[in-house]
Amino acid sequence: MKTIIAKIQKDNELENKEIYRRAGEILRGGGLVAFPTETVYGLGADALDEKASAKIYAAKGRPSDNPLIVHIADKKDLYKLSSCVNDNAVRLAQAFWPGPLTMILKKADIVPASITGGLDTVAIRMPSHPVAEKLIKEAGVYVAAPSANTSGRPSPTRAAHVIDDLSGRIDMIIEDDTVDIGVESTIVDLSEEVPTILRPGYITEQMLSQVLDSVITDPGIMTSVKAGVVPKAPGMKYKHYAPNADLAIVEGSMEHVIDYINTAVKEKEKQGFKVGIMATDETKDRYKSGMVYSVGSRKSEASVAHNLFAQLRAFDQLGAQYIYSESFSTDNVGQAVMNRLIKAAGHTIINV
Ligand code: TXA
Ligand code: MG
Repeated sequence: MKTIIAKIQKDNELENKEIYRRAGEILRGGGLVAFPTETVYGLGADALDEKASAKIYAAKGRPSDNPLIVHIADKKDLYKLSSCVNDNAVRLAQAFWPGPLTMILKKADIVPASITGGLDTVAIRMPSHPVAEKLIKEAGVYVAAPSANTSGRPSPTRAAHVIDDLSGRIDMIIEDDTVDIGVESTIVDLSEEVPTILRPGYITEQMLSQVLDSVITDPGIMTSVKAGVVPKAPGMKYKHYAPNADLAIVEGSMEHVIDYINTAVKEKEKQGFKVGIMATDETKDRYKSGMVYSVGSRKSEASVAHNLFAQLRAFDQLGAQYIYSESFSTDNVGQAVMNRLIKAAGHTIINV
């Protein structure tokens, strides 16, 4: 299949209009369109068309029990997709939509079980990125969209990442590299008594607690299946976000971390391996060898979130066989960063 790659132009409304028209037509016709959102790129299909969503699973190589998020462009659509919109959902929609928050609610009958992994709940999100919003409106359908990466790889934050993973497997990619946040939406399950965060993101527990009477975080999110705690979002149990290299997180006081990584890299390079170091603005000049990159500043968790997936993919491009990463603050969006990084590392954390 030839994939159409269409770039949104800053000052060419006429051409942009044609891009949305074409993309909308593809979605209504049961095809696949990748598009930017404020979190990561998504791979969209008509959520109510089972044949179309089956193509998402095939293109990504995604396990069929891993449900999709349904994207909407109008808050009222919440009532079409869920049979049980509670007070908490209304409050959260008011406070955080459009934006990087996904809500899990009891599903309405129109939602096919094939996109909910057989669950009786559905994940719903109203994105704030203007391209996503325009596309959903133009298509006139609810858009089921997981992240637009091959299953298991780091999520895509640039069109080039989507092209690398899915070119030739999907109908169209809308390119607009203004993805800002860089990690996927916060998922909150409202189908149970106490609202529960199933995946951390830019919207934190603290922010949610200002709107909800109570909210907890699923204890499975920072641990692993190995540790015996199974995360509640089906997708969180799989190996995920992983670069080709063997990635290890080194945790401890900054001086110890730098010493450890310097020694380990020297050792690996002596054995002939290519080694990457994921450092920060504050530490990058402290490393003596290896391919050293800053993923952001320790002063801003958001800068690390923004660059994390792109940096993991960049190490792949550089042919890194081992990557040593510093550990990051879990303040604010930092919790989402560490959640993704721990998964990317397959839970290899070296304490020094
Ligand atoms: O920011 C985002 O959420 C991006 C953009 C494209 O919107 N989408 C995204 O989708 O990250 P995906 O498919 O990569 O991740 C969806 C996660 C998976 O871990 C899945 O298991 C979980 O949401 N999920 C979906 N429906 C669920 C449900 N009914 N109950 C529990 N977890 C659910
Ligand atoms: Mg994903």
